[in-house]
Amino acid sequence: MQKLVVEGEKRICGEITVQGAKNSALPLLAAALLAKGETVLHNCPKLSDVYAACRILGCLGCECRAVGNTVWVKADAPEGCCVPDELMREMRSSIVFLGAVLGRIGECCLSLPGGCELGPRPIDLHLSALRRMGAVINEKHGVLRCECPGGLKGADIQLSFPSVGATENIMLAAVLARGDTVIKNAAREPEITDLAGFLNRCGARISGAGTDTVYIEGVRELYGCEYKVMPDRIALCTLMSAAAITGGELSVREARASDIGAVIPVFDQMGCSVYTYSDRLFITSGSRLYSAGTVRTMPFPGFPTDAQAMLMSVMTLAKGTSLIIENIFENRFRHVPELVRMGADIRTEGRAAVIEGVSRLYGARVTASDLRGGAALVVAALAAEGVTEIHDVKYIDRGYEALEKQLCSIGADVKRVSE
Ligand code: UD1
Repeated sequence: MQKLVVEGEKRICGEITVQGAKNSALPLLAAALLAKGETVLHNCPKLSDVYAACRILGCLGCECRAVGNTVWVKADAPEGCCVPDELMREMRSSIVFLGAVLGRIGECCLSLPGGCELGPRPIDLHLSALRRMGAVINEKHGVLRCECPGGLKGADIQLSFPSVGATENIMLAAVLARGDTVIKNAAREPEITDLAGFLNRCGARISGAGTDTVYIEGVRELYGCEYKVMPDRIALCTLMSAAAITGGELSVREARASDIGAVIPVFDQMGCSVYTYSDRLFITSGSRLYSAGTVRTMPFPGFPTDAQAMLMSVMTLAKGTSLIIENIFENRFRHVPELVRMGADIRTEGRAAVIEGVSRLYGARVTASDLRGGAALVVAALAAEGVTEIHDVKYIDRGYEALEKQLCSIGADVKRVSE
């Protein structure tokens, strides 16, 4: 068991490069299964989920090697169609392999992803879309068995909610399917555009990614390529929050302003100055932060649910009352009691959290209960008076490549301690 020990009240200052996006690397690794020959993915973050995805590819008969931030995948002769239960459990988003395995191998057997820290994670939209494409799916004792007796065929799919995972799974299943697929009310997240960019470079024919309608013309084969994973927009929001809460000044490389269009105005309103130039983002935070008013999490291009917890930490020290409405996941306020232990004034009611700004946070012994909630505790600790111990770092490690090293390089005092 490891904990982070943060000595607070150190100003975040300097220059840093954003890590590659976990939420893009995972579907790209699943997509590599669809392509013959070798795929080389650069800028993959060094995270346990990425290594779990590599092991899943290994179980499916692919060669997969990770060195530093580069992952090589050879998917010439995939075999087998079952992903072992322990790997499915290890990687929360392993369901994204369903579309890829069906697309390349034609059958698939996976254990169902259980609930996670954010509450139940239903996959009804994934399954009904794949059924429309010809998959026969049976679910027994938590195991999904899928076959496509006549092969996958293109279909018109209308999603009732723009689910990121469902959009990815449909794209992965559709690129090698017979005929055309149209996804209406598709997710528009930048990770969808990144996946389409990769698949198209492998020879797929996808258009409209990044809009609410994605068109996929099925092709016979795909060939591996070299590709760079997009920068992590949520890690970027985390760094911005760290600068904002400590009255800091940060220059961030590999920051794509278009990925955080709804986030920048919130920091502006809180009294920070944010400028972007080319792939750089500069954020300067004054000595006083102001309320952000009401922030509602929404599918892209709205404010991302994954940045909500870190923003809440910043709000705890902002003058006035701020309100967060969480519209995407239930159970996404688990960091609140821990922030309250640090002196924050927050009340929650269902999907709403009311944050009254306080003048100080105090170091405390707190516990991370999910990835972004854990990152929020780190952000709060950076500004808190005294020492904060954050337990259950394993959740934070799921999404950040050595967060303590990143933060220490820009002025924080954070140590990882084994218990
Ligand atoms: C992805 C991201 C996650 C992010 C989320 C929303 C990855 C690995 N994870 O998760 O970090 O917070 O997008 O931006 O990329 N839903 C259903 N039925 C379904 C699918 C989803 O009801 O079949 C619901 C979910 O319960 C949730 C909402 O739709 O309430 C959003 O889910 P979705 O967009 O699918 O998120 P993920 O792909 O799981």
